Amino acid sequence: MSGERRGFFITFEGPDGCGKSTQARLLVAWLKEQGFDAVHTFEPGGTALGRELRRLLLDEGAPVSPVAEMLLMAADRAQHVEEVIRPALARGAVVVSERFVDSSIVYQGAGLGLPEEQIRQVNAVATGGLAPQLTFFLDLDPAHAFSKEGGASDRIEGRGLQFQRAVWTAYHRLLEREPDRWVRIPVAGRPVEDVQADVRRAVLERLKVAGGARGEAAP
Ligand SMILES: Nc1ncnc2c1ncn2[C@@H]1O[C@H](COP(=O)(O)OP(=O)(O)OP(=O)(O)O)[C@@H](O)[C@H]1O
Ligand SMILES: [Mg+2]
Repeated sequence: MSGERRGFFITFEGPDGCGKSTQARLLVAWLKEQGFDAVHTFEPGGTALGRELRRLLLDEGAPVSPVAEMLLMAADRAQHVEEVIRPALARGAVVVSERFVDSSIVYQGAGLGLPEEQIRQVNAVATGGLAPQLTFFLDLDPAHAFSKEGGASDRIEGRGLQFQRAVWTAYHRLLEREPDRWVRIPVAGRPVEDVQADVRRAVLERLKVAGGARGEAAP
């Protein structure tokens, strides 16, 4: 896959309410200021089809079995890769996505108990093998997750502390397995700006290592 790719693919992962949207938004604004073509996107729901799937997945409504949830997340991802991520990478952009395959491994795998290998196989089909070059883990103990404005939680957030703990532990296992791709940033008790400074530092380093990413991503 990397042969066809010219841009740079970054993902944000972490428990619900750890600051993914906040950090991704600030990062993309900053990248644009630096002259990069940068795209901020998210899962589930980053496309028109995805918005429909997100509604089915997160709103309390019709029951969704664990396998159905995993497949719907993968369907959302397939559309997202095809419609948003791949075209942006192909033109040389830096793509910043809130959540990607890792979320399915930890939420539908560790959280709901589906076999990891199955999730990987389904997602290999969904993504065509596309993987992020850099993944941030915003590390926040689920017991201390920042409370959301408005306070309401969706179907997955509402699964309780034990579920969220299984997710958090599974993230740590993924980090241990692929230490080169992941950057762990502790967020508890730290201002948004401090976290963002760590994010920017890591992105700059990786873009430099990727060599030429800047030249290609710049307008
Ligand atoms: N470092 C921080 N310190 C204090 N509050 C923060 C920090 N980062 C984010 N917040 C606040 O916490 C809330 C959740 O942040 P955000 O929506 O960015 O998280 P998220 O990971 O995208 O959440 P979700 O999983 O719900 O999408 C927001 O109200 C945000 O303003
Ligand atoms: Mg968010």
